[in-house]
Amino acid sequence: MRIRVDSEACAGHARCNQVAPGLYELDDNGYIATSGFTVGPGQEQLAMRGARACPERVIHIVDE
Ligand code: F3S
Repeated sequence: MRIRVDSEACAGHARCNQVAPGLYELDDNGYIATSGFTVGPGQEQLAMRGARACPERVIHIVDE
């Protein structure tokens, strides 16, 4: 599974990081610090929960 993040649209709600802190890191200003990454085995559910937690819907599951 791959995650793509429209990081320029991030509004800093930080819910992704609260739900899945090991996957969605924040920068020093509280915005998501990645534009995408590959999810490791066993972390798919956590990644999806983090994506759904974003009220701005900037985190996308690219493939399952
Ligand atoms: Fe940004 Fe959404 Fe996370 S607005 S900090 S990607 S919850």
